[in-house]
Amino acid sequence: MIKLLLAPDIQPEMRALLQGKYELFDLEGYDRPSQVPGLPAPEIRGVVTRGESIFTDEMMADLPNLEMISNFGVGYDKVDAVAAKTRGVMMTHTPDVLTDETANTSLLLTLAITRQLRVQDMVVRSGKWPENPAGTLATSIVGETVGIVGLGRIGKALAKRMEACGAEVAYTDPFEQDVPYTYYPDVVSLAKASRVLALACMGGEKTRHLVNAEVLDALGPDGFLVNGARGSVVDEPALIEALREKRIAGAGLDVFENEPHVPEAFWSLDNVVMMPHRGSATVETRRRMGQLCFDNLEAFFSGKPVLTPVPEMKG
Ligand code: 8YV
Repeated sequence: MIKLLLAPDIQPEMRALLQGKYELFDLEGYDRPSQVPGLPAPEIRGVVTRGESIFTDEMMADLPNLEMISNFGVGYDKVDAVAAKTRGVMMTHTPDVLTDETANTSLLLTLAITRQLRVQDMVVRSGKWPENPAGTLATSIVGETVGIVGLGRIGKALAKRMEACGAEVAYTDPFEQDVPYTYYPDVVSLAKASRVLALACMGGEKTRHLVNAEVLDALGPDGFLVNGARGSVVDEPALIEALREKRIAGAGLDVFENEPHVPEAFWSLDNVVMMPHRGSATVETRRRMGQLCFDNLEAFFSGKPVLTPVPEMKG
């Protein structure tokens, strides 16, 4: 049986899919493969990572006969895909099957924060509705500009949803695209023009702290930030300060810089709604991701072309 090493916290359903077909070993609890007691490192031919997994060049070096890394998730910013390519290791991910789900999550966060879902739910739940029957008014996105940072697959799916909600869509991306949305060459000018700034870009060094104090101030006291991308894209201390000082109106966050640890400063803020990185986390979508992750392994180890290699593998 082919031996695979699994990154920490792999979805149990994913593990179940692999069980019996591959011999599985776990990295859980260790920083690198060479530390795992009893791991037959030279016999490990495949690694399964997920969106949040770190897998560096040094970690690959611990597995001299590694052939394939199959990532359970579309984002793989913590896996060194360039090193994999240099080492002749194939790498795949799971695009497309989660596009609609993650776009739905960003839509959910957008409506939840602008329409004050958390606060309004508490009004009912705490029995306080009769104290103020007229209630407090929320913010509409109808006719407002939603600025999308990163117009890839998920960004485009989010744009469609925002149009359906009656919002105007604008975007920034490394390249202007042939789309009916207003293009801004940089995130500051996009933030200035937007009521909601929604992040749908990749993580990694290129986008690290792209959203900083300057961007948040450009978004302004009536603006909302929605992050369904990666925590690393936002300068978190700057965001906390902006939320505390009401220099922006609120934030909807699915991702954080140091997951699963979230700064306690967020916990007590009323103008933030949070999810613990649940973008693709439905039974149905995770099943599709698991199947694609598995199918990539099966194709590779039976000598067939993989289905969804990461872009670094092409060219
Ligand atoms: C994770 C994600 O992969 O696809 C991505 O980029 O961030 C998620 O879908 C998922 O949480 C599995 O760990």
